[in-house]
Amino acid sequence: MNTKNITSVIDLSNSDINEIFSVTHQLKKSDLTNNINSLTGKILGMIFEKSSMRTRVSFEVAMTQLGGHAIYLTKQDIDLGKRESIKDGANVLSRYVDCITIRTYAHKTVLELAKEASVPVINALSDYSHPCQALADLFTIKEKFGTLDNITVSFIGDGNNVARSLAFLCSKLGVSFKIAFPEKYGLDKETISIVNDIAENDAKFTICKSPEDAVKDTNVIYTDTWTSMGQESEAEVRRADFKDYQVNNKLTSFADKDVIIMHCLPAHRGEEITDEVIDGPNSAVYDQAENRMHIEKALLKLLLTQ
Ligand code: CP
Ligand code: NVA
Repeated sequence: MNTKNITSVIDLSNSDINEIFSVTHQLKKSDLTNNINSLTGKILGMIFEKSSMRTRVSFEVAMTQLGGHAIYLTKQDIDLGKRESIKDGANVLSRYVDCITIRTYAHKTVLELAKEASVPVINALSDYSHPCQALADLFTIKEKFGTLDNITVSFIGDGNNVARSLAFLCSKLGVSFKIAFPEKYGLDKETISIVNDIAENDAKFTICKSPEDAVKDTNVIYTDTWTSMGQESEAEVRRADFKDYQVNNKLTSFADKDVIIMHCLPAHRGEEITDEVIDGPNSAVYDQAENRMHIEKALLKLLLTQ
């Protein structure tokens, strides 16, 4: 792989992504005993300044199953940027661990850590980006449909970190992306311009007038929370603003029968998605969550053993 850090999917070339998907596929289908020694003696430092279940557990399990070890570092433990500078933290951690993951608020914290650390840095979610999620999601879509050719992904809801990472990765991989959001909650202009600039093949990016428009003629309906971590004070206003953007049976009735339903989780059942949809036969949410671990194993193997 030709990158030291994964701060955003933009850091990855198409050949990096193909390699990640191919190693993920091998690791997922192979007997664990074939890989148990891949990362023996390697240590991952995991900085978490926000809550996490999937990301924390999947990275820790990935390291352990590949023979390495992961250390969980909360804000209370290291308080990066406050207790000491990001520069000092990055340099010292780089003397102890072989790779760092960081979940934080401002994306510039991830970028500074990546610049200062001599070991690889993986973004485990910032307000801007969630690259491991998008990689697991596109890998899941490829598994479900057997190809990414002629695939369209429709995102309903907030133009947030998850939507942005998906839009970037879809565009890079030639997958069309449609998005419907309430006014004021769209993707920013810079993101849209990058999405259009990096588009491969016939990937089309479309802003739809309504959720109904977005779910017509699509292969995937994707949604995420209306209120991301750090926006809790806006929750009530957002609940009102997003009320017509719920993924429910009425909305999915406008889609093809074989559409798959995706959500990065955690889901707020009864808000952005209803029980009948997330628990329905088209839901792929637990497959996506499982694939986070397989993708992360591949990222760690590629970043730490090449
Ligand atoms: N999807 C995801 O990143 O989940 P967590 O916040 O639980 O890690
Ligand atoms: N957009 C959500 C994703 C959680 C995995 C957040 O940032 O809180």
